[in-house]
Amino acid sequence: MKETVRVKNTGLRGVPVADTKISFIDGEQGVLIYRGYLIEELAERSTYPETAFLLLNGELPTEKELQEFEDRIREAREIPGFLYECLGELPKQAVPMDVLQLAVPLLAMSDPELADDTREGNLRKAVRLISRIPVVMAAWHRIRNGLEPLPADAALSHAANFLWQLQGEKPDPVISRDLDVCLVLHADHTFNASTFACREVVSTRAHIYAGVAAGVGALSGSLHGGANARVMEMLMKLKSEEDVAGWVRRQLEQGQKIMGMGHAVYKTTDPRAKILREMSRLLGEKIGQSRWYDLSIQVEEAALTEFGRRGKTTLKPNVDFYSASVYHMMGIPRDMMTPLFAISRIAGWCSHIIEEKFGEAQEKPALYRPESEYVGHYCGLMGCAYEPLKTRNNKK
Ligand SMILES: CC(C)(COP(=O)(O)OP(=O)(O)OC[C@H]1O[C@@H](n2cnc3c(N)ncnc32)[C@H](O)[C@@H]1OP(=O)(O)O)[C@@H](O)C(=O)NCCC(=O)NCCS
Repeated sequence: MKETVRVKNTGLRGVPVADTKISFIDGEQGVLIYRGYLIEELAERSTYPETAFLLLNGELPTEKELQEFEDRIREAREIPGFLYECLGELPKQAVPMDVLQLAVPLLAMSDPELADDTREGNLRKAVRLISRIPVVMAAWHRIRNGLEPLPADAALSHAANFLWQLQGEKPDPVISRDLDVCLVLHADHTFNASTFACREVVSTRAHIYAGVAAGVGALSGSLHGGANARVMEMLMKLKSEEDVAGWVRRQLEQGQKIMGMGHAVYKTTDPRAKILREMSRLLGEKIGQSRWYDLSIQVEEAALTEFGRRGKTTLKPNVDFYSASVYHMMGIPRDMMTPLFAISRIAGWCSHIIEEKFGEAQEKPALYRPESEYVGHYCGLMGCAYEPLKTRNNKK
């Protein structure tokens, strides 16, 4: 008899569906590791391009390898002209994550190596995606505001160039480095919903862009990448609220969630949230906007007290809670916060897509094909009697 594992309607919580060599989480201890390295160490000592190289290739680069990788990212920043024209035709109120999901297949159409499904070919496409997604998003932000997209600046780092192309001002080096750290922190996170979506799509042998487009769609939801924008919305709402603790209590009494809190895997504070909390504090002091950090702390304290009263002591801040105030202070518009998540996560998505395509952590690639249990209308294996439309109408 065929074996059926009873995991249905649980969102596959706690069910390993594949092996991976890319990242690891210990949800009880609050540990996140990329390819063996602790996230804290990478945040302090690495850069986003170096971390992206590590995720894609499994090892930290040599100086020469890193230089070449950064050059390739820089050289790929030119996006095809027809993509700008397409962006120009879109309604200005379009949701940036929808624009991104549209742009990914447009990038595919302009990729001369689209049909090259070798590992090397996929790595080159990954570099182009890492390079171009920020360029597309910055261009969209300017186009929707009636501004001309800006050319990339080859002298700037990956993070700094994004800020430049988005805002039209050469960014403060401290802010650029903070953004670079944010990109490191968001670059991968095991089998989260969007990564799983990417892997599931390419398990059909679809190309890397098709997988990434699926990942973008999954990331857009408010329970996943969309949470950072919702946290900022909450902070904006609470700006003039005197009784933050009362507001938090009322939210929970009404069955609402506090955005940026809780995690499907972490049962303690997300290690990325600790780094972002400190970054939010320091950035607030640097630019004289400590109120966002102060407000976040008030919400966190009130939420933890209320969760404690309800016996939910494992609900703690996740990566989105403090990234919201950090991004806001960097001048990132609220609806560009989730795209910024994608700008980072593209490194993880591509690494997982390559691992999935080439069965790098298991014996050989396998098409995802789970089962469902049918609980709908059923008249037996002969099927229900089909009532012709005319007589069916008369009976209703
Ligand atoms: C991330 C999230 C979906 C993970 O949740 P999960 O593992 O599926 O756990 P559940 O949603 O089943 O939550 C378990 C319980 O805690 C509660 N809970 C979880 N997160 C909560 C939150 N942020 N605020 C209030 N209650 C929360 C649930 O309502 C549920 O309560 P119940 O058992 O009484 O029904 C969830 O914590 C959440 O919705 N958080 C807010 C959105 C967010 O920040 N997402 C970004 C994640 S990085």
